[in-house]
Amino acid sequence: MFDAEGHRYLDAMAGLFCVNVGYGRREIVDAVTAQMAQLAYYPLTQSHGPAAKLAARLAGLLPEGIGRVFFSNSGSEAVETALKMARQCARRMHPGQNRYKVIARHRGYHGFTMGALSATGQTPRRQGFEPLVPGFLHVAPPDHYRCSWCSAEPGCTLACADEIERVIRMEGPETVAAVIAEPVIGGGGIFPAPEGYLERLRAICDRHGVLLIIDEVITGFGRTGKLFGFEHAGIRPDILTFAKGLTSAYLPLGATVATSRVFEAFQGDDGDAKFAQVSTFGGHPSSCAAGLANLEILTRERLWENSARTGGYLIERLRALQSRWIGEIRGCGLLIGLEIVTDAKKTPLPEAEMVRLQREIREAGVLVGRNNDSLPGFCNVLILSPPLTLTRDQADEIVAAIRTVLARLS
Ligand SMILES: Cc1ncc(COP(=O)(O)O)c(C=O)c1O
Repeated sequence: MFDAEGHRYLDAMAGLFCVNVGYGRREIVDAVTAQMAQLAYYPLTQSHGPAAKLAARLAGLLPEGIGRVFFSNSGSEAVETALKMARQCARRMHPGQNRYKVIARHRGYHGFTMGALSATGQTPRRQGFEPLVPGFLHVAPPDHYRCSWCSAEPGCTLACADEIERVIRMEGPETVAAVIAEPVIGGGGIFPAPEGYLERLRAICDRHGVLLIIDEVITGFGRTGKLFGFEHAGIRPDILTFAKGLTSAYLPLGATVATSRVFEAFQGDDGDAKFAQVSTFGGHPSSCAAGLANLEILTRERLWENSARTGGYLIERLRALQSRWIGEIRGCGLLIGLEIVTDAKKTPLPEAEMVRLQREIREAGVLVGRNNDSLPGFCNVLILSPPLTLTRDQADEIVAAIRTVLARLS
């Protein structure tokens, strides 16, 4: 990236966790140009070629039986759609019950629209807009570094996952529609699901007839070192949400993908599945053309493999920094967080200092992110989420900039 004065930066955030295939991909531009010339627009109340092709392409990348796609324009809309789908589906699957509650985690982020914001577990983002949508409950995230159950243990005991079952039981399973979770909490401070966590969530949901929504808006399309974040656990979600890396942000596009079982719950006697929701721009032909060209690049270059490889190298180099300011380094593929603390008691670096840190790293030529508005007093995580094309030399460049700036902190 170059700013208005011509300074060069390495974008270690891929914009906002989204330019997965990297900038300057002429192939995507050409595909979009050709699409606009051929068919500028047609609504998905009917259908059109690019949407049908992209839905099929997406389904082909997912496990068998997870491939019913509803297109929208953004991650927030994809989540909003998933929540609406889950509520309707749960009522249809359990006639006579009123399942509407959704359980989410503190620190999780799911979007800015009222439903998605209600699922979001970041108080500062919610406060100014409350009261939000009724029926959303939040539990502790898997944060082993600061966990009140198990941070004294060597590893996560999954007590945080079991808490979800306790909440379902206390609320009454017949009132709970869904659990929503990111495989790695992203904007909230980078918390990868610990080993066994998503499997435990899946088992809990199955036990109580609750749908599992996996929000892959950040983790989808190679970010975590696998094509999709849920693949680390080998579970089958009921509903998936995508945006960002679906087009690598060359154009806006969101997608909500459901299993055949969810789809069938909407089927009437005539065999038609009616999920009553219309979006004028959702699944726009140009966005779908961008999505198709993007997935072609992503799969041709197998960028999730570089994400795992170079992400592993980057995290190793960051760990070698051994700065007293770094409390914990967490991550998965090219999605990494550095929790910055001032002492051995894990006191978070104050936000004003974090802003300064981020600015100084930028002045050293690297654009990094940080969590903000996620938990009062804990906006102390530096975030790295570079394009999946990152080279080792570029990883070294990121580490060097962070090292220089941390060394200056006193
Ligand atoms: C996990 C997750 N879900 C949903 C969203 C909302 O996506 P959008 O900003 O495209 O509306 C985001 C945005 O960062 C996200 O990180």
